[in-house]
Amino acid sequence: MAIRKILTFPDTFLKKEASDVENIDGRLVEAMDDLAQTMYAAPGIGLAAPQVGLDERVIVVDIGEEDESGEQGRDLIEVINPVITEEEGEIVWEEGCLSVIDFRAEVTRANRILVQGWDRNQKEISIEAEGLLAVALQHEIDHLDGTLFLDHLSRLKRDMYTRRVKKALREGRPIARDTEDDGNS
Ligand code: NI
Repeated sequence: MAIRKILTFPDTFLKKEASDVENIDGRLVEAMDDLAQTMYAAPGIGLAAPQVGLDERVIVVDIGEEDESGEQGRDLIEVINPVITEEEGEIVWEEGCLSVIDFRAEVTRANRILVQGWDRNQKEISIEAEGLLAVALQHEIDHLDGTLFLDHLSRLKRDMYTRRVKKALREGRPIARDTEDDGNS
């Protein structure tokens, strides 16, 4: 397993639509292990393959919350070729993204969804999700279509962030990653 480098906005690879997985083989399973390891190391609550430069429709999500001992509970969800087949209601959540450094904003999404796809054992799976889990799954599936949470914001908000990043890049100054913040995906 290996921790992979996470691409960040405005990397154009993040705008690309990812390809369907045709074969669930050893190479893919290894990439999925890397994806999960990279997510936990970041740390984040979700990661999509294109964020580490892989052209595959694969996502990992773990919204595991701390238990009483303060340990981060692990509840890893991995989906290959995920498709949202049902959605219901509305939820507004302040989202962040490991590929969008130092920026969070409220996004409106479906509150309840049904996701269908495949697991690493080539079994068809379906996941019913609500609240934060539904938000995280929709956020990651968006990445597979080249969509960032920034794309759900008003043009004004998106442009403000774009200008900030471009200015930092021009000045050769990295945008600081907020280490206090572990709700990114
Ligand atoms: Ni993200």
